[in-house]
Amino acid sequence: MKVKITSRAGEHQFDAEPEERILYAGLRGGLSLPYECATGTCGTCKARLISGEIEDLWPDAPGKKNLKSDQGQFLMCQCAAKGDVVAEVSQFVTSLRPLSGAPQWCEGTIRNTRMLTADVMALQLELDVTLGFEAGQFMAVEVPEVKGLRGYSMVNFSTDSSVLDFVIKKLPGGALSNWLFSGSRDGVRARLFGPLGVATFHPDVAKNLLCIAGGTGIAGIMSILDRACQTRHFDRFEGDVFFGVRTPEDAFYLDELAAFQAGFPRSLRVTVAFSDQPATDEIRSRYPGIRFAEGFVHEVAGRDMQGRFENVMAYLAGPPPAVDSSIRLLIMAGVGADSIKYDKFS
Ligand SMILES: Cc1cc2nc3c(=O)[nH]c(=O)nc-3n(C[C@H](O)[C@H](O)[C@H](O)COP(=O)(O)OP(=O)(O)OC[C@H]3O[C@@H](n4cnc5c(N)ncnc54)[C@H](O)[C@@H]3O)c2cc1C
Ligand code: FES
Repeated sequence: MKVKITSRAGEHQFDAEPEERILYAGLRGGLSLPYECATGTCGTCKARLISGEIEDLWPDAPGKKNLKSDQGQFLMCQCAAKGDVVAEVSQFVTSLRPLSGAPQWCEGTIRNTRMLTADVMALQLELDVTLGFEAGQFMAVEVPEVKGLRGYSMVNFSTDSSVLDFVIKKLPGGALSNWLFSGSRDGVRARLFGPLGVATFHPDVAKNLLCIAGGTGIAGIMSILDRACQTRHFDRFEGDVFFGVRTPEDAFYLDELAAFQAGFPRSLRVTVAFSDQPATDEIRSRYPGIRFAEGFVHEVAGRDMQGRFENVMAYLAGPPPAVDSSIRLLIMAGVGADSIKYDKFS
């Protein structure tokens, strides 16, 4: 099927497979189509159908709540072309050439599942291909047993890897996460689309890093820290990482965070904020290089960073309230919008 997208920057045409989401087909074809979550929740991939017929693969997608369906608006990440289609997006769309680095479909096998806390699991996806990705990017993942794709950020960083590390939170009533947590899933095949996302870190960012993560939002931040440490970014710049969870039992990746911090003891600070309980003596003595604080992660970051927001590049990830509060904090502190990158996990 041929899909033609008209935008303020002109017209672009690409091929889509049957049942393939228009967003994915366009990204695969190298277009800079607008999106954030790529999985039906945010509404950023809105387009307007001009001609042709589309199939809505998830009619109840939360991202549709502000769409004017009577005017032909639809979510490109949830709709597939049923024949040749012409649609319009209001943003500038450009064509990226060459296509290396464009998101693609691939398959892999779930390996090395292990529990990190009572409701957080780490796992690896061993891909059939090697994949290059930027620190901070994510993949849309689906398994045959569960309908639809879910976004998960890579924890590791590698320019060319066939093994992706993920950390996954069990959500009450969540279809994929409950399926994962309810039996041994090692060996199960998964289909992935990516890499996706623009909340990425490049070593040429000549700025201090400020990372604020809630819960499994730490996933992409781990990848960013991995790359920043590999490129010795903290030899030249400061780093501040704030990781918020509810209680000490909910904390994970403390060994890894402590190791990053130990590599750059004078320039990299890691603070873990507990919103519901104070830190225990045991956790404090086990991780002398990590600072522990009580409160919501954005509040702890706001207090600690006072007077230190200059020349900062901020990476925020996690539940929408934590990310929105952090964005407000940064804007009020004078950090420009182009120095704030985020992934909201709604
Ligand atoms: C950029 C990004 C990065 C993320 N990274 C992580 C991470 O590293 N770790 C983590 O734990 N969480 C992450 N999340 C959040 C994670 O995607 C959700 O928690 C996850 O989708 C919940 O899936 P579930 O099946 O447990 O819950 P459910 O409530 O069953 O599913 C929610 C999601 O599944 C999809 N979905 C549900 N039903 C359908 C359907 N019928 N058709 C199509 N799609 C459907 C949608 O994406 C929806 O948002 C990230 C989210 C985003 C946007
Ligand atoms: S990108 Fe389609 S709803 Fe978020």
